[in-house]
Amino acid sequence: MNTSVSVIASVDALPDGWSARQAEPLPPWRGVLMVSPEHFRIAYAINLHMRDGDGGLRAVDPEKARAQWDALARVYESIGYPVRVLRGQEGLPDMVFAANQSFPFPRNGGDSVLLSRMRHEQRAAEIPAFEDWFRGRGTFMVPRPDDAPYCEGAGDLLWVPGRRVLLGGYGFRTDREALDEVAAATGARVLALRLTDERFYHLDTCIAPLDGTRALWVPTAFDDSGTALLHRVFDRLIEVSEDEAANALACNAHCPDGRSVIIEAAAEGTRRALEAEGFRVFPVETSEFLKSGGSVFCMKQMLF
Ligand code: ARG
Repeated sequence: MNTSVSVIASVDALPDGWSARQAEPLPPWRGVLMVSPEHFRIAYAINLHMRDGDGGLRAVDPEKARAQWDALARVYESIGYPVRVLRGQEGLPDMVFAANQSFPFPRNGGDSVLLSRMRHEQRAAEIPAFEDWFRGRGTFMVPRPDDAPYCEGAGDLLWVPGRRVLLGGYGFRTDREALDEVAAATGARVLALRLTDERFYHLDTCIAPLDGTRALWVPTAFDDSGTALLHRVFDRLIEVSEDEAANALACNAHCPDGRSVIIEAAAEGTRRALEAEGFRVFPVETSEFLKSGGSVFCMKQMLF
């Protein structure tokens, strides 16, 4: 397979007349995987959100975190996505961010998964539990050498809803070279988007695809080529204020079905914009997880 044609870094590299709508359709999601939050806390800082104004580590309220996690799981169940739970492990305080350790995808009629290689060693030990979980389900594991490029799973790899096309963020956590591997494994065309603003260190903190034509985004997180690519994919890019994007991680909202959007409650302006677009909005409180730089989208892995 010639991977160089599958990773696209600028609009000029797209075939004439290309549209994501003509790409192969994907099956719908069947459920959600979440990691229980009993060991979630802030024990180190690997992104800007994890420290307070004085430079100290932010403090999580464990009871509040548990209640917020439960409420999020209930929303997924209520809109038709059964939640599977993997037990969090002591000493792995970020394991609760289940988007990052893996990237599941459908291939040749079965389930496959690409396991991540985490950029920060504090998170590396989260991977084996996911490996076991997917193995137990009979999922095909894409082989990866130990020195494979860094890749943080669904934190940096987002499907264009319903299509075998991926948005691939790189620069802070995921390496650009990992996108070649992702394209080869998934058979998806990958649009490479360089991330430029440290507050938005994962792609899922700066864009939320909603349906085949619309997405939420914060423009300051992308360079000019990325911006041009996103305008080619989506007819409507709904701009989120920098305040709500940075402080409420509004772009970490999740729309699993093209009409229901789960979003941090504090992102009020974004909620109104989504309602005006006709979406069913499910506000949830994720204040404890925001302290670690994560919200709705980070807290689960979607399963085919
Ligand atoms: N503290 C975690 C980290 O910095 C948060 C991960 C959030 N996940 C995400 N998909 N954005 O790695």
